[in-house]
Amino acid sequence: MEKETVIKTEKFVMKTYNRFPVSFVRGKGCWLYDESGRKYLDMLAGIAVCNLGHCHPKVSEAICEQAKTLIHTSNLFHIKPQAELAELLCKNSFGDKVFFCNSGAEANEGALKLARRYGTEKNPEKYEIVAFKNSFHGRTMAAVTVTGQGKYSQGFGPMIPGVKFAEFNNLSSVEKVVSERTAGIIVEPVQGEGGVVPAEKEFLEGLREISNRYDALLIFDEVQTGIGRTGSLFAYQNYGVEPDIMTLAKALGNGVPIGAIVTKGKASEVLKPGLHASTFGGNFLATRAGVEVIKTVTEPGFLDRVREKGSYLRKRLSEIKEEFPNLILEVRGLGLMVGVLLSKNCGQIVMSALEKGLIINCTAGNVLRLVPPLVITEEEIDYGMEILREVLKEDES
Ligand SMILES: Cc1ncc(COP(=O)(O)O)c(C=O)c1O
Repeated sequence: MEKETVIKTEKFVMKTYNRFPVSFVRGKGCWLYDESGRKYLDMLAGIAVCNLGHCHPKVSEAICEQAKTLIHTSNLFHIKPQAELAELLCKNSFGDKVFFCNSGAEANEGALKLARRYGTEKNPEKYEIVAFKNSFHGRTMAAVTVTGQGKYSQGFGPMIPGVKFAEFNNLSSVEKVVSERTAGIIVEPVQGEGGVVPAEKEFLEGLREISNRYDALLIFDEVQTGIGRTGSLFAYQNYGVEPDIMTLAKALGNGVPIGAIVTKGKASEVLKPGLHASTFGGNFLATRAGVEVIKTVTEPGFLDRVREKGSYLRKRLSEIKEEFPNLILEVRGLGLMVGVLLSKNCGQIVMSALEKGLIINCTAGNVLRLVPPLVITEEEIDYGMEILREVLKEDES
């Protein structure tokens, strides 16, 4: 690997990440190439971002053309691809309005502000948020406050007041913390960083009912689950439960930074001019990428294939589980968002896989996370599974 990049990174980039000793120079579809030309099968997709694969021709062509035409004007003016993307998001979801921003944390930050404003306009005491243990919502102050994993907020206190935690997939624990003071409930339909744990249908149905009962806004954080990842365009569509607010980011731009808050009905009326904003949010470049992404993911048959390939990947992993019953405890997930629960920490397995040319990730300490580009083929899945088997075999011996 090129030493200069490592030296400069260590010298000039703030050390907030422990990086793998690889630097990629090129990507195509599910494949990444390092400086020596070595190829790696990417079953992580930039952490559930490059859902259409690296450098998808439609996205790359659109952003190249847009970059030569107009990149940014600010939201003081109308922006054609922004309007087009908002329409696409609304027509393909429960939503009727969209606010654009630049990341997942920023989308959640805005959604939480929106919920608080909604609540406190009714009653100044109605500002509480119910969130869930083991959740992950991002790194801004409000986002870490509602993130139910202490390690992310430790040392950054005091947290914002009024956040109460309940157990994921446990409605009676929600009943204990919800009240007339609750302005919003924020939940991931599938907890991602928490270990790829899908919500149960009854749980999301129950949250919908509780939100209605207390006039609280139900927020689905679909930053990781959105844009086809779970086999539906949005994960909530697998459950038949609609939120009042949905947050998006990650795959919406296939790598171009973009975030969005999608709202409906009463939630769409809260934020008036001047109450919330973002300089870059929804600019020409990012929304042009988003338009191509949504058009591609909603092409007939695309999501059917994601579901088929998700089942195939989980089937292959279940076969591997049979081979390594002491190491693999569970294979779980939805669509192409898959977690493999191990009986031990998975850091070394991820490293060994990388050395053999397979990119996967370890989350929650002992869960291998596989979130490949949605365009992956069965043959590529087989290729990845062979490497994983080899790695597990070596690990066992
Ligand atoms: C569910 C969820 N919400 C929010 C975030 C934060 O997104 P970002 O890193 O774009 O701020 C993430 C990132 O992993 C996420 O998985």
